Amino acid sequence: MIKLENVRKVYQTKGGPLEVLNGVDVEVDKGEFVAIVGPSGSGKSTLINMITGIDRPTSGEVYVGDKRLTNLSENAVAKWRGKNVGVVFQFFQLLPTLTVIENVLMPMNYANTYTGQRRERAMELLDMVGLYDVANKYPSQISGGQQQRAAIARALANDPEVIVGDEPTGNLDIISAALMFELFEELVENGKTIVLVTHDRELAGQVPRVIEVRDGYVLNGTEVDNRLVTR
Ligand SMILES: Nc1ncnc2c1ncn2[C@@H]1O[C@H](COP(=O)(O)OP(=O)(O)O)[C@@H](O)[C@H]1O
Ligand SMILES: [Mg+2]
Repeated sequence: MIKLENVRKVYQTKGGPLEVLNGVDVEVDKGEFVAIVGPSGSGKSTLINMITGIDRPTSGEVYVGDKRLTNLSENAVAKWRGKNVGVVFQFFQLLPTLTVIENVLMPMNYANTYTGQRRERAMELLDMVGLYDVANKYPSQISGGQQQRAAIARALANDPEVIVGDEPTGNLDIISAALMFELFEELVENGKTIVLVTHDRELAGQVPRVIEVRDGYVLNGTEVDNRLVTR
């Protein structure tokens, strides 16, 4: 489902080139639930930005589904992402001037999907994440946990096969984080592929496969949380 081949990422900084990914290989199968862990600044966000096409490698190849992202234009990648990848961030990134349901409608409007049934679909998704009753509220009128669930509903709007979270529980209290994690587990049970960056070792410990990022290298088969990670 996801394949990174010898991916290098070098940022040009004032202090000179900064090599953030040093030629990493990662493969994630369809239906897998993978956690990405590692110290702050180790390159986790950079790594998943390669998968979503939010950023591009300096060299190497990225394949997601039947697409080779590395030879698509920026526009084409944005279009592809809108339909095929759901992204959830630490700070939710809902549009504050839109209501909850309008936020969920946005990806469908943008990609021109589900014409004629967008509202029904948006309400179904909001119902699934427990937000049916706050559909017409603004993000500032609901709790952080609710905002993150709205962000998940929005990420699911176009029924993407792949869902990527960049520390989506990082800004939530323990109960909201646990709820969020349950939602991810349900999505995996329904066949979605999930890549979840998390600082939370306890959450990572409940994910079937953990990939550790260290100084731009990906460690597979390392000891994480006293469990032997097998790939
Ligand atoms: N756009 C950028 N330009 C320059 N340096 C960057 C950029 N994005 C990230 N970095 C640097 O790359 C390193 C890895 O960042 P990041 O992938 O965000 O790490 P993590 O998500 O693991 O905390 C950090 O040293 C960060 O400062
Ligand atoms: Mg990060």
